[in-house]
Amino acid sequence: MSLERKNPEPKSQRQNKLAEQQLRHEIQQLRNELTEHNYRYYILDAPIITDSSYDQYLRKLEQLEIELGEEIPSDSPTQIVGAPVSHVFESREHLLPLLSLANAFEEEEVHDFNRRLREAVGQGAASRNVTNQSNHQKEFQYIVEPKIDGLAVNLRYEKGSLSIAATRGDGRVGEDVTDNVRTIADIPWRLEGDDVPELLEVRGEVYMSKASFEALNRTQEQEGEKLFANPRNAAAGSLRQLDAKVTAKRRLSFFAYGVGAGADSLADSQSLLMQRLEAFGFAVQSFELFSEVNALLENYQTWQQRRQKLSYEIDGLVYKLNSIDQQQQVGEVARSPRWAIAHKFPAEEVMTTVEKIVWQVGRTGVITPVAEMKPVKVAGVMVSRATLHNVQELQRKDVRAGDQVIVRRAGDVIPEVVRVAGSGTGQVGRRGKAVDIPASCPVCGSHIEQSEGEVAIRCSGGLSCSAQLKERLKHFVSRGAMDIEGMGDKLIEMLVDEPADSLLQLKTVADIYAIDFDHLTGREGFKEKKIENLKRAVEKSKGQPLSKFLFALGIRHVGAVTAISISEAFCSLESIMDADVEALQSVDDVGPEVATSVRSFFEETHNLEVLSSLKGSGLWPDALEKKQSLSDHPLAGKTVVLTGSLEQISRSDAQTALRKVGAKPTGSVSKKTDMVIAGANAGSKLKKAQELGIPVVDEPQLLEWLARTLG
Ligand code: IVH
Repeated sequence: MSLERKNPEPKSQRQNKLAEQQLRHEIQQLRNELTEHNYRYYILDAPIITDSSYDQYLRKLEQLEIELGEEIPSDSPTQIVGAPVSHVFESREHLLPLLSLANAFEEEEVHDFNRRLREAVGQGAASRNVTNQSNHQKEFQYIVEPKIDGLAVNLRYEKGSLSIAATRGDGRVGEDVTDNVRTIADIPWRLEGDDVPELLEVRGEVYMSKASFEALNRTQEQEGEKLFANPRNAAAGSLRQLDAKVTAKRRLSFFAYGVGAGADSLADSQSLLMQRLEAFGFAVQSFELFSEVNALLENYQTWQQRRQKLSYEIDGLVYKLNSIDQQQQVGEVARSPRWAIAHKFPAEEVMTTVEKIVWQVGRTGVITPVAEMKPVKVAGVMVSRATLHNVQELQRKDVRAGDQVIVRRAGDVIPEVVRVAGSGTGQVGRRGKAVDIPASCPVCGSHIEQSEGEVAIRCSGGLSCSAQLKERLKHFVSRGAMDIEGMGDKLIEMLVDEPADSLLQLKTVADIYAIDFDHLTGREGFKEKKIENLKRAVEKSKGQPLSKFLFALGIRHVGAVTAISISEAFCSLESIMDADVEALQSVDDVGPEVATSVRSFFEETHNLEVLSSLKGSGLWPDALEKKQSLSDHPLAGKTVVLTGSLEQISRSDAQTALRKVGAKPTGSVSKKTDMVIAGANAGSKLKKAQELGIPVVDEPQLLEWLARTLG
């Protein structure tokens, strides 16, 4: 019997362990501090300690690392000579995608949202029990937060330290802005508190306060620099700086509003989550809770005034189901949660005068009437052109040159003419002539088509119409598509307008990769460096992922989000090209119209020729890893806890690899845990797993499983 009982640890051994723990802690702290000083010294040029104190800290760390006697990680400040590596603007995949919000502009849309949610969580009118009202009120609550007008970022914390900050990008992959984000005082470099998750993605909005925006524009003006149109643009421009010193001067702010990977068991409601985020050291907005939709709507009315008093700009209110369980119950559609909605404030309307009405030919040949107006500021931006949408709208609104009109920015983006101001009161008789509807394309003269049931009129010239070609090319090179920096609108227009015998003339998107840009040498504004950069950007674009390439092709109805869904479902360009309408329709977000449009795009000879010459120039997107094959992986769908120290793989690499095979790594062991992976010296988590009867495997087993798909 006595042989079977485990010997208690001798006292000296325990003391040794304690000392080792302390040593590790001290080393970690010194590494963190020195990393921060390196950043302040090299990146910001603004050290806060003297060189000799820095050297003292560094020497101390060297001593302690020797004392511990373990291999020193290559990112320890003792191993780094000179400036820390900057990853500015490199692509970063978010561990979980960043979703966006559906918008509501009218009260009825909020009522619909409320009805949908109540049905989905079983709180619909039919199931509501009057005597039990107070109970329901507790269970079904909306949290209301102001919708900050800034830009979303994803902050990854590993072992409580900020490791990567990335912009939203397309929701799945963003750009690395870590160096710049470190200048924002509202964002902690390390999460505060004892109970910090191993890995956590914090989501929130970077914004510029009204006061900082005014101050920035004053400085810009004094220095003869361009003024920013509004705080949102200023925040975006400041975050996307190559030099973090510039960002540091710009005074950006941040509010946290959510979490991505690592969210498990942080909080069971959004309101508690906000408290946890605050306890971790983030700035969060104040929020309100409501149970009834009418209270939501009354509150919205009060905010129309209250928003002026805030120190930052907001463009609406966000309503979210407060309970995380209920959020999971209702899920998401097309990359927006069904459990949240943005109730936008009405667009600001202003008055100006129409100078003339022109016709604009778009990427797909649609001809749109556009009002050119006396410049006017709308919602912070100077506007001189506004869309009139289509012929029907133009005739209905009866806008003419010389009219006074009300203009607004629809969804706060594209300016539109709302109506003629004071039409019929005194102006009649003195008004200009009604606009003539074009009989042929105003750019290329081709005849005009109008499909049955469509309001739009189109130029039939296809790519022989230079206006369509220019718009196609602009779309192809744009940031969300092939992202060719330096290939701006002006250059594209110039290259399309080159004479037919010019070696620089662009006739299709494939020509971008076939043209020798050295022929630009000697032209005004094209120095050697600029040409080199352009060539490099064109070459770099060959590495764009499948979804961006698909989006770049400009297939009708295939926006950035649909392009991602199709790419993820088919994984290669060949499979997409081969897919029939039925297969395409099996993809989420793809209906008959989209499917038919994709199919006909790949049946068009001209498009196939362009694709084949792109291939000839070395542009063909890589296939994606097939996801389906992972569903039978032994770890797929399993909730897994890593504990103890792993020897062959770092914990964060293990977590990433687990996620790739479809497992869900979490921080603490509970009844919901499917498996515990125990490395050396595993402690309380291993014990708890054994008590709960949860299967435990070791590191070699984990590596064997991961190798099955990742090798
Ligand atoms: S929650 C899954 N809360 O609005 C829910 N978003 O139009 C994701 N935004 O991409 C967003 N204030 O950049 C949330 N209090 C708030 C917000 C907010 C601003 C932004 C965010 C999001 C966009 C959607």
